[in-house]
Amino acid sequence: MILKNGLLAIGNEIVKKDILIENGIIKKIDTNIQGDDIIDISGKYVVPGGIDVHTHMNIDVGIKSVDDFKSGSIAAAFGGTTTIIDHPGFGPKGCSLHYMIDKYKKDAKESYIDYSFHGVIQEISENTYEEMAELKESGINSFKIYLTYLYKQNDEEILKIFEIAKKLDVIIAVHAENDMAMEHLKRKFEKENKTDIIYHSYSRPVEVEAEAVYRLISLASIIGYEKLYLVHISSAKALEQIEIAKRDGKKIFVETCPQYLYLDEDNYLKPDGIKYVLSPPLRKEKDRVALWSGINNGIIDLVGSDHCTFSLKEKEKGRESFLKCPNGIPGVEERNLLLFSEVLKNKLSVEKYLNIVTTNPAKIFGLKQKGSIEVGKDADLVIFEKKESFIDEKLMHSNAKYSCFDKQKINCKVDRVYLRGLLIIKDDELKSLSPEGKNIKR
Ligand code: URP
Ligand code: ZN
Ligand code: ZN
Repeated sequence: MILKNGLLAIGNEIVKKDILIENGIIKKIDTNIQGDDIIDISGKYVVPGGIDVHTHMNIDVGIKSVDDFKSGSIAAAFGGTTTIIDHPGFGPKGCSLHYMIDKYKKDAKESYIDYSFHGVIQEISENTYEEMAELKESGINSFKIYLTYLYKQNDEEILKIFEIAKKLDVIIAVHAENDMAMEHLKRKFEKENKTDIIYHSYSRPVEVEAEAVYRLISLASIIGYEKLYLVHISSAKALEQIEIAKRDGKKIFVETCPQYLYLDEDNYLKPDGIKYVLSPPLRKEKDRVALWSGINNGIIDLVGSDHCTFSLKEKEKGRESFLKCPNGIPGVEERNLLLFSEVLKNKLSVEKYLNIVTTNPAKIFGLKQKGSIEVGKDADLVIFEKKESFIDEKLMHSNAKYSCFDKQKINCKVDRVYLRGLLIIKDDELKSLSPEGKNIKR
């Protein structure tokens, strides 16, 4: 198959070229490639399939998420994402690191796009090293820990985990929020009957994130560990700590999410504020501005969606008290639409866009066949048309059936999506007849 006359996003340029695809792989990129099976895409943009390294499909936090690997991967595909790396939920107390990965491997057989998993360390034990080594052997080079929620790590545990991760040369992704500070504030607000949704945000002030970030950077430094990955960074204050550390030569990977780039905490004051409950919470405009400069100056490496969806019926529980609202919002479909629009609006360079949406995710997490339009790589390709439009939650594909980005202006529309050369989306329709996603070993 030859994609003819596309406007290809490569390096820091948009170049008009043809792409020859054979057996799911990019075979040639050139002008005027001849052959049969030509698809003319003149005037349309071609970008590498998006890689979203932060999703929570099928998660069960006592309340089950509404997106499983089927609906979540279809939503991702419609938004121009062809690979996800999922963060599994917690398993039963005392379970081995393999438990949830084995479960998720079965669940993900329904995926319409390629996928991989982060291992989740919930309790450190004498088996942790062995189990992490085995998972690494099986193609998982990244692990997640939390500083809050049901299974959280204290400083000593974090140090031990960093020691193991250093030996195994694997990434530790961390949800960085100071649990005790949040608990203190939550209990205080509860006692004072301050349970409106805005108190979700007031109980998790930026210092909660910045302190945890500084502590993690310091603990990693004590061990000499250089693969700390900070998920969903939301605040200017946390970014300040990261910037100081990076300037000091420390190696840290940094992720933010579209919600922290586009939305702010005033949303919690709206009648439908429950829709926006996630952790860390939405912040202020100055935080959004700082995060955009973090993208532009390279302090932020990539943007993941943190797609974690609950039905509005479940979110409604938050009206009684913010403490009852399940945390998490949809975003796997919106992420690439929002960010490619920035390129078409000349607000984000082609290079930065590629870095944050595909190239860095592939490089950091070892997805060798993915991340750029390059000979020899998988033909995971998204064809975008330039079109002024807006996100319409009624047209999104997540089972959440709402979008926090509803009415947000965008400048592009997905025309086609190819997964390893296979047409999976065309003209707003799913073309795959069955789930074609593969577990990608890293
Ligand atoms: O509120 C959020 N972000 N829920 C998903 C789990 C997490 O913390 O990433
Ligand atoms: Zn988190
Ligand atoms: Zn998450």
